[in-house]
Amino acid sequence: MAVKMWAGRTAGATDKLADDFNSSIRFDQRMYREDIEGSMAHAAMLGAKGIIEQSEAEALIDGLGAILADIESGALEINLECEDIHMFVEQVLTERLGDVGKKLHTARSRNDQVALDLRMNLRKETDEVVALIKEVVGALVSVAKDNKQTIMPGYTHLQRAQPITFAHHLLAYCMMLLRDISRFSDMKARMNVSPIGCCALAGTTYDTDRYFEAEKLGFSDICLNSIDGVSDRDFCVEFMNCCSILMMHLSRLSEEIILWSSWEFKFVELSDAYTTGSSIMPQKKNPDMAELIRGKTGRVYGDMIALLTTLKGLPLAYNKDMQEDKESVFDAVDTVKMCLGIAAPMIATMRVIPENMKKAAQEGFINATDLADYLVKKGMPFRSAYKISGTIVAKCISEKLVLETLPIEEYKAFSELFEDDIYNEISLETCVAKRISVGGTSLESAEKQIEFVESELSK
Ligand code: ARG
Repeated sequence: MAVKMWAGRTAGATDKLADDFNSSIRFDQRMYREDIEGSMAHAAMLGAKGIIEQSEAEALIDGLGAILADIESGALEINLECEDIHMFVEQVLTERLGDVGKKLHTARSRNDQVALDLRMNLRKETDEVVALIKEVVGALVSVAKDNKQTIMPGYTHLQRAQPITFAHHLLAYCMMLLRDISRFSDMKARMNVSPIGCCALAGTTYDTDRYFEAEKLGFSDICLNSIDGVSDRDFCVEFMNCCSILMMHLSRLSEEIILWSSWEFKFVELSDAYTTGSSIMPQKKNPDMAELIRGKTGRVYGDMIALLTTLKGLPLAYNKDMQEDKESVFDAVDTVKMCLGIAAPMIATMRVIPENMKKAAQEGFINATDLADYLVKKGMPFRSAYKISGTIVAKCISEKLVLETLPIEEYKAFSELFEDDIYNEISLETCVAKRISVGGTSLESAEKQIEFVESELSK
């Protein structure tokens, strides 16, 4: 039987449907560990400050420890008839300890309790998400290391633009994901501030020690305004903002993997383990996992928007609307973790097909910039060189020729500056090798980037 801890002010029973509507235990039960650890710190503080007897504090801590152990061993099942996880833990504690159990909630409210649990829970989830991002970066950098010399077309407007290496392209994603790691860790510093002791909204008349609790629970500071402490959900919004940006990155990568897996590109082939077949078309090998990562991105954005919308009209301090924070934030956590968990092995196991990348790079005149640069290096102003190169490309297109094999006499007809060395200058290998500017696509630059990414990963 679930007991209503708050029965007293009201005598009549609540409607069954209203109970279900009001209850959050279905989704907040996943915070049982944080709830119990928070309560242990609270009991310890009550004892240390003499608000309850030291022996009572010890009994509470032991009782809470036993509840935790019993939930984890399966000996104690969470009663879904309770309103929320906080009520459940307190109810079991009181059933087991009698009157001592009833002392735990001294100088505390569920308002500061739930804010505490959620901060602790998301703090832990942040570490897990960061570890998973590192796995994806690890997979990307290892494919990059194998493809430092693999030439592919770089695109703008999804039109072939300039030759790059596959390593350089993948390293761009590493940079994005490293920024995600840094964003999560900045966010975590603001999240890691303790609300416990704010009580319902106004603080308490007991001589509590909020720093004692914060320190015991690994927080770096405490919320300095009790009203803010119980009504602030910025940490949830920020968490989901980090998740959204991360998902946007994963979605862009997925989009490319989907394109690259198509017959139109065939730059990579995904492992059978991360593809599906069609129920009707026997030839199909579909990149469903990448598509789902792309698809679930919208869902994570939605989670963030849902909470922002919930919060925007709320007067201070706690309002029950805030119970809606958890379903959004937990959905975002679960989705992000699932996507990262799939992305890492999907990338690590994909087969890269350098021949097809090279073939695509050989078509589309992606060395035209280098043709213009050749003339510039021989003294022609860039705009004039650009114009001549464009005309040469147009001629090649109409006569079905390529820059690499256009005879030297034809080049000379456009400018006397052209010499035999033009062929070496516009070879794809030269185009890549010569892009030695910092952060460019040269081998040297890729190696520096790899070194940087690996050193960030080892932090
Ligand atoms: N289940 C509630 C929530 O998730 C806990 C806080 C309830 N506080 C209250 N004053 N009713 O927000």
